[in-house]
Amino acid sequence: MNAAIRSVVRSSIYYNVECYGFFRGFQGIIENDYRKLEMRSVSKILGLGGTKLKTARSMDFHDPKIREIAYQNLKNLEIDALVVIGGNGSLTGANVFSKQFDFPCVGVPASIDNDIYGTDNSIGFHTALQTIVETIDKIRDTARSHNRLFFVEVMGRDNGNLALHSSLATGACYVIIPEKEFQISDLADRLKEGKVLKKTSSIVIVAEGNTYGPSYKIADDLIKVYSDYETKVSILGHLQRGGSPTAEDRIIASRLGNAAVKTLLESKSNHMVGLIKNEIVLTPLQKVVENNNNINEDLYKLNEIISR
Ligand code: F6P
Repeated sequence: MNAAIRSVVRSSIYYNVECYGFFRGFQGIIENDYRKLEMRSVSKILGLGGTKLKTARSMDFHDPKIREIAYQNLKNLEIDALVVIGGNGSLTGANVFSKQFDFPCVGVPASIDNDIYGTDNSIGFHTALQTIVETIDKIRDTARSHNRLFFVEVMGRDNGNLALHSSLATGACYVIIPEKEFQISDLADRLKEGKVLKKTSSIVIVAEGNTYGPSYKIADDLIKVYSDYETKVSILGHLQRGGSPTAEDRIIASRLGNAAVKTLLESKSNHMVGLIKNEIVLTPLQKVVENNNNINEDLYKLNEIISR
């Protein structure tokens, strides 16, 4: 997100537009917590994880009357437009606010889940994926040395993109995601087949938002029907959301930040900027929030074929 902020600030200055940053997103607008951002305000943040402007899931912003306060604050500061960087919650807020006050807003997709419609990749996805892959490579050392089965739980509240991509990239033998129905017997069959094929250790990736339950429950239920492996569970948690962004993420964020500023200058509002097939694409915020970035079925099939 820092790379996106830097790009928005420097692009604005390039196009002779003043830029202000609100801390903790919508909450900062409500509380008038802002700072003017200059060229040097965004120095040395390109490689930093997190966000310099901080972030918050603002419950206050759900209230139309409180949004009125936010609107008045923006008017008093003579702010003409908003660039909203965030996930589905932030983009929903931008859509509602833009419609309620006819206020120009452009969204920039940022979510490690990569669940946002209208872009191939949201900011943070590559970095989280890279972290997961590096971590699972380390876990695999123990799995391989001890002939164990590991369940590795990754983030993805409603979406299996992180789980599916990390499964492909680490050679996990099975992936459990919200988009696909899961049965313990199916996993047991896969593990049995693996044993016949002389597999001595296995990794199963579990998306936290799967419909069956937490990875500990899956591991417990599996042992009732298949107990050939010594089984361990690792929940990767928030380490997936931190760290220095990958080159890919820095470039995506820089492109999207610039595109957001240009979109507003072209008087196009209430859209999200995304990257589809490496091209900047605008999608109406309404359409963005009504849809999901579904998993790629070809990747799912490929994973099934080669994860044996
Ligand atoms: O929405 C992105 C996400 O990373 C989810 O995958 C995860 O469930 C959630 O955020 C964690 O959010 P919090 O840090 O607020 O618990």
